[in-house]
Amino acid sequence: MTALVDFVKGLPKAELHLHIEGTLEPELLLKLAKRNNIELKHASVEELKEAYQFSNLQDFLDIYYAGANVLLQEQDFYDLTWAYLEKIHKQNVKHTEIFFDPETHTSRGIAFKTVLDGITRALKDGEEKLGISNRLIMCFLRHLDEESAFRTLEEALPYKDQIVGVGLDSSEKGNPPAKHQRVFAKAIEEGFLTVAHAGEEGTAKNVRDAVDLLKIFRIDHGNATVNDPELAKELAEKQIPLTICPLSNLSLKVVPKLEDHPLKKLMDLGLLVTVNSDDPAYFGGYINENYIETAKALQLSLEDISTLAKNSFKASLLSQQEKENYYQMIDGYCNQARV
Ligand code: HPA
Ligand code: ZN
Repeated sequence: MTALVDFVKGLPKAELHLHIEGTLEPELLLKLAKRNNIELKHASVEELKEAYQFSNLQDFLDIYYAGANVLLQEQDFYDLTWAYLEKIHKQNVKHTEIFFDPETHTSRGIAFKTVLDGITRALKDGEEKLGISNRLIMCFLRHLDEESAFRTLEEALPYKDQIVGVGLDSSEKGNPPAKHQRVFAKAIEEGFLTVAHAGEEGTAKNVRDAVDLLKIFRIDHGNATVNDPELAKELAEKQIPLTICPLSNLSLKVVPKLEDHPLKKLMDLGLLVTVNSDDPAYFGGYINENYIETAKALQLSLEDISTLAKNSFKASLLSQQEKENYYQMIDGYCNQARV
């Protein structure tokens, strides 16, 4: 097994499905609570970790939003983002496209600019000091109403140079893509790209509607695609990427066991599948752990793993030339590892 672990560690990768608020490790959460004089329900690392047992998406979201309450100052958002970048630097992630949830913070009276400034200052340092390139995508919370999303979009307009796209996260059940169709249309009109979580706890119909109604260029999760052969065929033909998050799916009981995960089936159907960590502080692993655990459970070959790494760049927003450079880098790495 160490051959697998070493291979994954050395492989250049991009991460495309990552909520920055979901990288808040218990240690940093406690440190920020102290710094900001915030009282916590769970006051130790052990208690926090014990609380991270989820039966479904909503269970997780309740704890995730509560955790985000310790983020108040620009420096807090910087520290959060910087800690993530240091972590993935050690995992050989070369490029990351991260989500943030403005409404989680603006609803608590924190200025949009405070959140954005902290995150982007860290991203800039990550680029300069660690060589990690990035893009930033802001997500609307789909359990909130359309007005909240429109207000958030309005707040983002002065920062088009820093935010490339809009996404859709939070509770999928009861909040189908159609609910945000108008705000997505407006976002596209304003020049933003679009992505959306779909087919995580919802059905293939949500994946279909995210494509047709929200005009997404990439689907976040998309597991349910496997249940609809016509849809799978179309996504494969159009090479619309899926950002799959195996350890998240396991934690939130989207799959009962990793062995049951549809990732390999989707790859075999010709879909552009990528592996990502979603909310690594809550789901027990960053990107390498996601690759390694999935490879073990689904008996992926080293060639499958290198395909997933190439897919991560292919599905990214990097330029064609940058993508080609990474494909070559991966081929070189595989040759040297004799794969
Ligand atoms: N699904 C929906 N909303 C989220 C997630 C997720 O996996 N992580 C953070 N917000
Ligand atoms: Zn997610």
